[in-house]
Amino acid sequence: MKVEEAPNPLAEGLHDYRIAVPAVMVIFGATGDLSGRKLLPALYNLARQRSLPAGFAVVGAAMTEMSDGAFRKHAAQRIRQFSRTQPIDDRVLDALLSSLHYVTVDFGRLEDFKALGTKLDELDAANHVPGNRIFYCATPPPTYQTIAVQLQAAGLNKGEGFHRIVVEKPFGSDLQSARELTQTLQKVFTEDSVYRIDHYLGKETVQNILAFRFANSIFEPVWNSNLIDSVQITVAEEIGIENRGAYYDRAGALRDIIQNHGLQLVTLTAMEPPLAFESGAVRDEKVKVLRSIRPLIGEDIEQSTVRGQYTRGWVLGEQVGGYREEKNVAPDSQTETYAALRLFVDNWRWAGVPFYIRAGKRLPKRITEIRIQFKRPPHLTFGRDAMKEVDPNAITLRIQPEEGISLKFGAKVPSAGLRIRSVTMDFQYVTSFLVEAPEAYERLLLDCMIGDPTLFTRADEVEAAWTLVDPIEGAWRDGRPRLQTYAAGSWGPDAAAELLKADGREWHRP
Ligand code: BG6
Repeated sequence: MKVEEAPNPLAEGLHDYRIAVPAVMVIFGATGDLSGRKLLPALYNLARQRSLPAGFAVVGAAMTEMSDGAFRKHAAQRIRQFSRTQPIDDRVLDALLSSLHYVTVDFGRLEDFKALGTKLDELDAANHVPGNRIFYCATPPPTYQTIAVQLQAAGLNKGEGFHRIVVEKPFGSDLQSARELTQTLQKVFTEDSVYRIDHYLGKETVQNILAFRFANSIFEPVWNSNLIDSVQITVAEEIGIENRGAYYDRAGALRDIIQNHGLQLVTLTAMEPPLAFESGAVRDEKVKVLRSIRPLIGEDIEQSTVRGQYTRGWVLGEQVGGYREEKNVAPDSQTETYAALRLFVDNWRWAGVPFYIRAGKRLPKRITEIRIQFKRPPHLTFGRDAMKEVDPNAITLRIQPEEGISLKFGAKVPSAGLRIRSVTMDFQYVTSFLVEAPEAYERLLLDCMIGDPTLFTRADEVEAAWTLVDPIEGAWRDGRPRLQTYAAGSWGPDAAAELLKADGREWHRP
């Protein structure tokens, strides 16, 4: 018997009703990991919610020789395995597969790009689409510039319709390489056609930071140094570096997480209200925050940063090896798998409020959160004894998992006498909306197809972030401060606790 699903009034109106503009999306690296795990499943879920218009097509482009049929088979397998919505709706999947095509492209061969151009023209003619093109580089970063240059040489960056390029982080490995990348991309595409993905910005809960702050009137008046004591941002992962040793050993936690996801969370927490939720206004305010962060230079770096590397330990009940035992990691590697910084946003709103930010692999669990710690009340009305179980007020924005927001405050313990204890008031996405948030890539792909770059990183943001990170990276490579170790499964090196202890504070244990 077929059981009808009960209507869910809480989920009403949650559907993203926007529809993409007809276009051809070329996925370079279409047979790779990112495409299989994220992009193809995201396209399926967009098709499922009817956001892909007639005339939309995908061309997979990669080195492997493959027919359209083989690519469709590959895509179907990945979608079945990785789609967040299950079971798969075969009608939707078949319709999507029929719009998938494949062209073998060796990024070094101009002829291959010309052949790609011919295929795109054919699809435009068949679908009656005026040449709208999205080039998605789901490839290792060193290929971005080659792909852009070849697209230009083959004349694929101009003509009727729009021409956009999507690149993934890391955008360069320091300020200079980021600038070079931007210069190359901007020779081929206008800046507003360059979509730099930091997938954290596509997460519902990250966008909700702005909704929480600017769609309510009660939080902004307290969102400043008058009442806020400090801000703690944690990006913890229980996983190690998986099979990414070759990349990670050159990157480290500072470049891999703090420079992008971490600083993005700082900007959204600290920014001034933008005039509108519109790409120029939002990104202008974010850049202002990055430029207001006091640069760490010289001795500040030793005093305000901690770097650590995991050794053997236990994570979620399983024994795991140390970082130096991982595949493709140098046996004497000095790369940090944990980073903690104390930053100050030197502006009127945040003067004197430390922003502590930490990111690490092989910590006890996966959790990303922003904790706004308030000052203690100015006077102990109930006396020290009654208040001894009370922590200061705190708002925690839980990005993942168990997405939600909680407020901690003191309440009277139900008993004779007057004792006060900390309690929390919780908002949880699942209980309030009864649905799982869409994947970041669904939102970002659709925004790109529609032409809304608000949730993508602009060149000046990337450069401002590297300007902050480069001197720290430089000092760390010179061994200042010393690389600490921490056992896998612990909350990081002792020095990270000392960093806060020196300020009379401690890390919140999520
Ligand atoms: C990526 C990093 O950008 O983000 C990875 O390169 C990290 O090292 C990942 O694991 C974390 O993303 P998420 O969405 O799982 O928090």
